[in-house]
Amino acid sequence: MSKPRTILTVFGTRPEAIKLFPLVHALEADERFVSRVCVSGQHRGMLDQVLEIAGLVPHHDLDLMHPDQTLDALTAGLLTGIGKVLDEERPDFVVVQGDTATAMSGALAAYYRKIPVAHVEAGLRSGDIHHPWPEEVNRRIIGSFAALHFAPTETAAEALRRENIDPAAIHVTGNTVIDALHWITDRIEARPELAQGLTSLEQRFEGRRIVGMTSHRRENFGDGMRAIADAVKRIAVRDDVAVIFPVHLNPNVRAVMNEELAGLDNVALIEPLDYPHFARLLDIAYLMLTDSGGVQEEAPALGKPVLVMRETTERPEGVEAGTAKLVGTDADRIVAETERLLDDEMAYAAMARAHNPFGDGRAAKRIVELLAR
Ligand code: UD1
Ligand code: UDP
Repeated sequence: MSKPRTILTVFGTRPEAIKLFPLVHALEADERFVSRVCVSGQHRGMLDQVLEIAGLVPHHDLDLMHPDQTLDALTAGLLTGIGKVLDEERPDFVVVQGDTATAMSGALAAYYRKIPVAHVEAGLRSGDIHHPWPEEVNRRIIGSFAALHFAPTETAAEALRRENIDPAAIHVTGNTVIDALHWITDRIEARPELAQGLTSLEQRFEGRRIVGMTSHRRENFGDGMRAIADAVKRIAVRDDVAVIFPVHLNPNVRAVMNEELAGLDNVALIEPLDYPHFARLLDIAYLMLTDSGGVQEEAPALGKPVLVMRETTERPEGVEAGTAKLVGTDADRIVAETERLLDDEMAYAAMARAHNPFGDGRAAKRIVELLAR
């Protein structure tokens, strides 16, 4: 057998960890590879929640998070920190996922050392460099030099081909988030106690329909966040609805949401949920209101209508499948679209159908085979 290839997987935030743990598990189980993991610690608590449930112990933890960090200070620390790890590890390949500061910096540090980069979730494009910001540019940067592009869907692969990327380097694999969702669903089935922490809220809101909510986009800070909070306040006036809102740890999100929504009877502002509990929230929710990328992918897989509080999306597949709808950040529109789903059974039924436009749960396996080639 030829010498195993060393793959260094680099990530730092909650969604990257969720989308990469299935791949790290698959690499660890495969004799053709030596799997090494570097976490930047761009997120701390929210990253650690995922590491724990997935049983991952990183070989390197740069512990870089600072409260309310700026993009430039974060990026500077990431580049030098990950660079040092690359000099020590000298991997054959660096794997990054998506479009965060960690992914972009990890890829760039590898490029500076002429180490080939494999990009998981490649080819997402909104076509607008300010939405989502700064993610649209981060992923374009990675895409401009990655050696392997693992596109979740044919739409994403086509976007890369339009940018004149070598078609032989583009592979449609599905999105590893569906692998993660299947894995966590199986775990919860085997050990229900992993997701029973919402029971008291479920009892408190019995008889009401649950709106599951998340919000964190940088481009929505300020007016966008206030409009979203205003919409939630107006929706929660209804006596047949309750909002469960695990609030992102970003202080720019928390300050507004606490100021606007704390103390409302029908709104539960809670700490970020670990992945099993978030899966439970997806399960009990009547609909999801979100500006998250990952939730736009998970909700269609579970047949949960999702109203996306963004002006554009780089994930048109959920909208095309009919499970997701773009509603922007205007409070009147968010309230009107939510009420339509609550009051119009036909409109609800049209959206509440399970689709799997983002994958079949075997993306990590495909990626491993492609890395082995
Ligand atoms: C980051 C990513 C974004 C991704 C999001 C997922 C960038 C530029 N942004 O945005 O693409 O969609 O993560 O959630 O890469 N904080 C904590 N504890 C945590 C996490 C965050 O306290 O576990 C607070 C800190 O004050 C931190 C701040 O949130 O400085 C912002 O974190 P950061 O990673 O810079 O940005 P996000 O808005 O989380
Ligand atoms: N998620 C979670 N707990 C929460 C909120 C979200 O585990 O309280 C998961 C969710 O299931 C999805 C991912 O985190 O897989 C999305 O992360 P986030 O919204 O922070 O980032 P984005 O996907 O927008 O980059």
